[in-house]
Amino acid sequence: MIDKDDWSARAPSLSPVTTESPSSFLGSIFKDWRHLIYLPIDKTIVATSGRGMDRIAVIGSGNWGSAAARLAASNARRLPDFQDEVRMWVHEEKLDTGEQLSVVMNNTKENPKYLPNVKLGPNVVADPNLESAVKDATMLVFIIPNEFIHGTCKQLKGKIRPNAKGISLIKGMEFTDDGPSLISKKITDLLEIDCSVLMGANIANEVAAEKFSEATIGYKDDKQTADKWVKVFGAPYFRVTSIQDLEGVELCGTLKNIVATAAGLVDGLGMGNNTKAAIMRIGLKEMIKLSKLLFPSVQDATFIESCGVADLIASCLGGRNRKVAEAFAKHGGKKSFSELEGELLKGQKLKGVVTAAEVFSFLKAKKWEESFPLFSTVHSIATGQIPPSAIVEYAERTPKEIEGGPELEELSSLLST
Ligand SMILES: NC(=O)c1ccc[n+]([C@@H]2O[C@H](COP(=O)([O-])OP(=O)(O)OC[C@H]3O[C@@H](n4cnc5c(N)ncnc54)[C@H](O)[C@@H]3O)[C@@H](O)[C@H]2O)c1
Repeated sequence: MIDKDDWSARAPSLSPVTTESPSSFLGSIFKDWRHLIYLPIDKTIVATSGRGMDRIAVIGSGNWGSAAARLAASNARRLPDFQDEVRMWVHEEKLDTGEQLSVVMNNTKENPKYLPNVKLGPNVVADPNLESAVKDATMLVFIIPNEFIHGTCKQLKGKIRPNAKGISLIKGMEFTDDGPSLISKKITDLLEIDCSVLMGANIANEVAAEKFSEATIGYKDDKQTADKWVKVFGAPYFRVTSIQDLEGVELCGTLKNIVATAAGLVDGLGMGNNTKAAIMRIGLKEMIKLSKLLFPSVQDATFIESCGVADLIASCLGGRNRKVAEAFAKHGGKKSFSELEGELLKGQKLKGVVTAAEVFSFLKAKKWEESFPLFSTVHSIATGQIPPSAIVEYAERTPKEIEGGPELEELSSLLST
């Protein structure tokens, strides 16, 4: 079980004077001499000096939501920039024991349903009331499945601080025939707040187990806020960097799911590592190409950050999209993706085939299908139009060049190899 043996516990901690009795506070100061070094920046002094401390609220309490709240809570306890308490909005549900999830979370400081046997931190407060969960928060972390973001933001309208900043850790944006519906933009539009994104090769259970990984924050133009977000999530075992490419970072987190589906098909066909590596490379090229067509501001460098190639590799080696696609190919396409999703994922949702369908519809509307043979093939296989083995046959096709405006010149050179 992971307990309080996290890096903040090893580093000197600023005890929350508001939640401890004076005697236990003094005890915590003197039990370790290192605390004396930190005494001058005690949070009470910071609070009364007029310099405001940020207050973090996490909107969501699933697998990644809980792991992310744990990181934020650890930094909130440790750093003078933040109020200790991190409130977490819990979409309330009854556990098999008959107890309410939020009650159990507050009693045990664990999330038994979505991240069992991991202590989230003494300063995490589970709150089933959305309005009170975000009260006075200046930093809002959005981490719920994509399909609930619209309704949740509508409920939050007028209930959040006007100067609040948001960050989305949500992967799997929708695509319509008009293009991608960026979740960060949805949050900005609905709540009128700045919203960054954090994406990367971050399997929640591994981050919660403090296994080293990295993440990328994508921001629009507010570097100062991006630096604050780095402080919220960074840890020695979780290296966070920020780049000014909001759209590029967010698109990586969605498009990689199509490539992971292709990689799973290759696994199910028993094709081996060379084939899988080839599919990953071709998939990455299509990710770059589509992202740059959609947003000419997207930078090539984004794709070698954690949000790009690292998340792609992690998703193609593990992850739910790969797993279900492997089973699909093993069954020769006779069992549908939704049947296998029900059998293998225990209620978790599959994103890759949905994204492939939406992206295909968008490509078709633009007449770009032949320029993205991998993305298009994944959709055709998932819908039973062609067999799983077609995933490698597609490689014989050369992506059709897209005629376009001046912004495509750079793209043509990128895609000429
Ligand atoms: N799990 C991971 O390893 C991981 C890693 C990186 C990113 N993500 C992304 O994080 C996002 C959230 O995933 P997760 O793993 O935290 O959740 P999850 O899949 O573990 O759980 C689903 C969550 O949705 C909540 N929910 C159900 N109905 C709801 C409703 N009507 N309104 C609001 N919430 C509702 C549930 O209470 C639960 O907290 C997804 O976009 C996912 O792609 C997940």
